[in-house]
Amino acid sequence: MLTAYDYPSAVLVARAGVDVILVGDSLANVVLGLDATTQVGMPEMLHHVRAVCRGAGKVPVVADIPASVMPTDVAPSCASCVDGAKEFITAGCVAVKIEWSMYCIEAIKAVRQAGIEVMGHVGLTPQTAVDFKVQGRDEASAAIILEQSKAMEAAGCFAVVLECVPEGLAQEITATLNVSTIGIGAGKYCDGQVLVLHDMIGLNDRKVPRFVKKYANVSDMIVNAVRTYKEEVERGVFPDDTQTFR
Ligand code: KIV
Repeated sequence: MLTAYDYPSAVLVARAGVDVILVGDSLANVVLGLDATTQVGMPEMLHHVRAVCRGAGKVPVVADIPASVMPTDVAPSCASCVDGAKEFITAGCVAVKIEWSMYCIEAIKAVRQAGIEVMGHVGLTPQTAVDFKVQGRDEASAAIILEQSKAMEAAGCFAVVLECVPEGLAQEITATLNVSTIGIGAGKYCDGQVLVLHDMIGLNDRKVPRFVKKYANVSDMIVNAVRTYKEEVERGVFPDDTQTFR
């Protein structure tokens, strides 16, 4: 699985043969230049989901339910979460992703009740995280993450993303769950892997986590192309006869 946030990136990711495209709320950080994933809501997510679905072809698209529509009170109403999930499906997604938070199990059950597939997300969950570091390093917190994964499976998730947890814990969760695990910074024993596209192709001028492998440096390619264009315009080399109508 890989993220995409617009039409051209979805076309390229699909052409490369990736199994699932995720429109993550990391949209906030890597595309919109914001500081936190909590700064995007349904309007921004939907705008990008529609573009991705246009480019994804037959590749299934999953969208992140943003923090703003997750239930936050003691008697949670999951209506806005369910409405958001329905909007993503209408836009062309096959499923939604819900991060662990206080009332996420109620939300997952409500979305499943509406007939919509849900992918869970535990470990480092940026919508509610206070510490952006490896989660589940000690026995107690590892046990909590295992229980959260089991609760997500029991609530009806078809897969669970494990973000930034030790490899051993991810291996244990993968062995325990009947549904698939998808790791990001969780080692190689997960059933699948996910990365943020802009991080792995080097199209991100911010610091990327250690678990990211950079497969390309697209930023340098873009800067070089733009520099050459500017220089050719200034020297009168571009446009030449090939690009000119007589
Ligand atoms: O928003 C996102 O890109 C994600 C991935 C890190 C899994 O949730």
